[in-house]
Amino acid sequence: MNNRVTVVGSYNVGLFLKGEAIPKGGETLIGQTFYESGGGKGSNQAVAAQKMGAQTVFIGRIGKDRYGLDALAMYERLGIATSAIQIDGQAHTGVSVILIDKNGQNSIMVVPGSNYNLSVQDMDDAAKRFAQSDIVGFQLENNLETVCRGIRRAHEAGARVLLDPAPAAPLPEGIYPCLTYIKPNELEAAAITGIPVTDEESARRAGEWLVQKGVENAIITLGGRGAVLVNAQGTRHFRTPALPGPVLDTTGAGDCFSGTLMAALAQGQALDSAIRRAICASALSTTRLGVIEAIPERDEVEAMLQSGGGRVK
Ligand code: RIB
Repeated sequence: MNNRVTVVGSYNVGLFLKGEAIPKGGETLIGQTFYESGGGKGSNQAVAAQKMGAQTVFIGRIGKDRYGLDALAMYERLGIATSAIQIDGQAHTGVSVILIDKNGQNSIMVVPGSNYNLSVQDMDDAAKRFAQSDIVGFQLENNLETVCRGIRRAHEAGARVLLDPAPAAPLPEGIYPCLTYIKPNELEAAAITGIPVTDEESARRAGEWLVQKGVENAIITLGGRGAVLVNAQGTRHFRTPALPGPVLDTTGAGDCFSGTLMAALAQGQALDSAIRRAICASALSTTRLGVIEAIPERDEVEAMLQSGGGRVK
């Protein structure tokens, strides 16, 4: 293990609006809080992996605009390698508008802009970098064709591959055997497998469906009810720990999970222990506002783990 994580994915500036409720169609509501921050599922996962101590490279495309400059400044501040980030003159930096209600639940609209210009050629060009990585992570905020090419290249290069299939989209059959890990939430697992996922038992069935398709490990997250792992050894249910405060904002909790999981695996942790860390980190992140600002410090995660966080049921 050389502690190297590569994340291929999206950067979106996040424009956050928090209020009592999320407006319905045709409705205008006055909110209470506005803030702007770096986001995008790929970028958030890279930030989480870096914060958890992995040497992290982010591969993506940003626009030649002020949001793109903000992104580069953020990566430099966090120590994330920027050599594989391309500045695209043809499209704007990805933008996400995130509406959050009083319970911390969100609705997000993303306009991907330059993220959709990440190309299959970019994935072919990244093959050497994939070969030097312990684990390569993907999500679905780039072109599906590009993501699938990247997954194949990373698999051929001998890296472990994690797909966080968000936002959910139908996946080509041939891609499943290239995945060491897939990490959908309930909604994504249901959209991919056609099995409504509402509890531990239905998560197990969705996980088995994914394993039958060729995925090595299916990790289905269930929000406050933890996560279910299905692989050739069977099924395990990991519990969410008691939270140190109320849920303020669940945005990016799944990204925090994936980034923490990848870092722990790249550091040589066994899968059970990596999942426990990921559950603790994402649970802590929901008690704070924002996405990257909400990612906890590594020692906070360790402390929660020591007090039993993420234990197998
Ligand atoms: O998963 C949360 C992320 O989804 C946000 O940062 C937003 O940019 C969207 O991509």
